[in-house]
Amino acid sequence: MRDRLKGKSALVTGAGSGIGEATARLLADQGAKVAVVDVDGEKAETVSASINAAGGCSVAICADVSREEDVKNAVKRAQSRFSSLDILINNAAVQIMGELHDCTEEQFDRMIAVNLKGVFFGCKHVLPFMLEQKKGVILSTSSVLGVTGDADLGIYGATKGAVIALTKSMAVAYGSSGIRVNCVCPGDVGTPMVEQFFDFQPNPEAARERVYGQYPMRRIASPEEVAQLLAFLASDEASFITGSHMFVDGGLMASVY
Ligand SMILES: NC(=O)c1ccc[n+]([C@@H]2O[C@H](COP(=O)([O-])OP(=O)(O)OC[C@H]3O[C@@H](n4cnc5c(N)ncnc54)[C@H](O)[C@@H]3O)[C@@H](O)[C@H]2O)c1
Repeated sequence: MRDRLKGKSALVTGAGSGIGEATARLLADQGAKVAVVDVDGEKAETVSASINAAGGCSVAICADVSREEDVKNAVKRAQSRFSSLDILINNAAVQIMGELHDCTEEQFDRMIAVNLKGVFFGCKHVLPFMLEQKKGVILSTSSVLGVTGDADLGIYGATKGAVIALTKSMAVAYGSSGIRVNCVCPGDVGTPMVEQFFDFQPNPEAARERVYGQYPMRRIASPEEVAQLLAFLASDEASFITGSHMFVDGGLMASVY
C-alpha cells in the first residue's frame, strides 16, 4: 500500500483538521506528494510539517476556498511545486446549524460560498491542468445529508446535494478526457465538526448515545475510515469508477428503523 499513490500529486482542501487531515496523511503515506490547503494557515503548517517529518512530501498552503484568487493560486503553487496535479480533493466545508426560518442570509451565503462555490473553484482551476495531462481524479466530500434530511441542517444538506449533482455532471463531461469525478458521503464522523453538533444539543451525552444508536454498527466513523475510501478512489485501483456518490456510513442509509 505504501506505493499505491507513488508518483502522484494531490491537493486536499480543509486538510488542517478532521477528514481532510486524515486524508492528506494517508495519501502521503501511500506515496503521493500532498498540498495541505486550509484557511487556517497554522493548522495547514502543522499537518504538512508532520507529514514531512514522517518522511512524506508535502507543502502547506493557506487559502480560503470561497475566494477564487486563493484557489487559483493554491492550485498553481501545488502544480508548479510538484510539476503535476493528479488528484484534487474538495473537502473544506462549514456547517451552521439551526432551523431554516432562523438562518440568516449571511449564514446561507457562507455555506454556499465555502461548500459549493469552493468546490466549483477547485474543479475549475485544476481542470485545465488535468485536461492537458489527459488524466486526473477529482473527489469531493459530500454527506449523507446530500440525499436525506435533517431538521437543523437544511442549507448545509442543500450544498451537499449540489455537490453530488455537480460530481455527476462533471463525470459525464470529462470522462472522455480521462478525468474521473466521484464524491463520498459520510455519516457522522468523529471530527471537530461533529463535536460541535453534540455541543449544540441540550444534553450532549444523550445526543451522542442517540446518534450512535441510529447506526447499524452502533458507532460513528473515524476520519481515517473516510480517508481510506478517498485514497482508494484516488488510486488507479478505482480506474473504472466515476460519477458515483459512495456512502461510508456504517449502514445508516440502508436502515429505515
Ligand atoms: N464530520 C462529519 O460528521 C461529516 C459528515 C459528513 C460530511 N462531512 C464533510 O467532511 C468534510 C470535512 O469535515 P470535518 O468534519 O473533517 O471538518 P473539520 O471542521 O474537522 O475540518 C474542516 C477544515 O476545513 C477548514 N476550512 C473551513 N472553511 C474553509 C475555507 N473557506 N477554506 C479552506 N479551508 C476551510 C477548516 O479550517 C478545517 O481545518 C466537510 O466537507 C464536511 O461537510 C463531515
